[in-house]
Amino acid sequence: MQLLDGKYVSEKLKGEIAQQAADYLAASGRKPHLVAVLVGHDGGSETYVASKIKNCENVGFKSTLVRYEDTVTEDELLKKVEELNADADIDGIIVQLPLPKHIDPEKVTERIDYRKDVDGFHPINLGRMQRNLPSFIPATPYGITLMLKEYGIETAGKHCVVVGRSNIVGSPMSILMARNTTPGNCTVTICHSRTPDIKKFTLDADILIVAIGKKNFITADMVKDGVVVIDVGMNRETSTLTKSGFKLYGDVDFEGVAPKSSWITPVPGGVGLMTIIGLLKNTLVSAKKEVY
Ligand code: GUN
Repeated sequence: MQLLDGKYVSEKLKGEIAQQAADYLAASGRKPHLVAVLVGHDGGSETYVASKIKNCENVGFKSTLVRYEDTVTEDELLKKVEELNADADIDGIIVQLPLPKHIDPEKVTERIDYRKDVDGFHPINLGRMQRNLPSFIPATPYGITLMLKEYGIETAGKHCVVVGRSNIVGSPMSILMARNTTPGNCTVTICHSRTPDIKKFTLDADILIVAIGKKNFITADMVKDGVVVIDVGMNRETSTLTKSGFKLYGDVDFEGVAPKSSWITPVPGGVGLMTIIGLLKNTLVSAKKEVY
C-alpha cells in the first residue's frame, strides 16, 4: 500500500501557483482576485471558506469574503452575485454550499457569470467539461485528477466506480474519468443511495472514488486486492474533541481497506487539501483569461 499524499502534492503545486501569481502580478500590476460568499454559520462551510481565503493570501492572490446571515433573501443574494459579475476587478466568484432552504442553489449557480464560475458548477462549464472544451472544472474532482497525474496512476481501460452523484463531486468526477483524457478513459460506474447492492460494483473497481458522506461506509470486504482508493469523505465528529474542536473521518474504513489497496488517500491529508489547489488554479487561469 502506498499513500496518495495530499499534503505533499498540494504544497508542491501551491509553490508553482505562487510563482505564476507573482509572474502575473509583475506583468499586469494586479493579483488574481477571488470572492467567496458565505451565508449563515454552518461549521463545515466556515472552515472551508476560511481555508480558501487563507490559501489565496498564501499564494499571493487577493481575496474578499462576503458574509450574510441565513436570513438573507434569495433576491438579495442574486443581486449581490450580479454586482460581483459586473466588477472588472473580480476574476472568480464562489457561493459556498449548502445554502439555507429558502434559497435555490440552482438559481444562484446559474446567475454567476460562467466566465467567473471558478467552482465549475454552472451548466455551461459542466457541458463544456463533458465535451472536453476549455472550462472551469469543479475543484474537488479537479484536485483528484491532479493527484492521480502526480503519482502517475494509470487509469486508461480501468473500471472506475464512483460512489455518490452530487453536483459537487460524484457527478463531475464520473464525467472526468470517462473522458478521453489523462487521467480518464475509464469505464465508469456511478453508485448512489438508490443502488441496491453497492458492494457488487465496488468489488469490481480498479479505481474507487467515494463521496457519499458516511463515515467508514466502504469496508475491507467491499474492495478487491490492488484497488486505488480515493476517499472524498469529510465527516466531522464533534463528540471526539481535539485541538481543532472535531475529528475528521473519511467515507472509507482506512484501517481495513488500506492493506488491500495499491494506493489510498488518507483523511485528513488527502483529497481535502487538493480541493483548494483546484480552486486556486481555476482562479489563476480566469485572471489570465486562459479559459474565456
Ligand atoms: N460545498 C462543499 N464543497 C464546495 C465547493 O467546492 N464549492 C462550493 N461553493 N461549496 C461547496
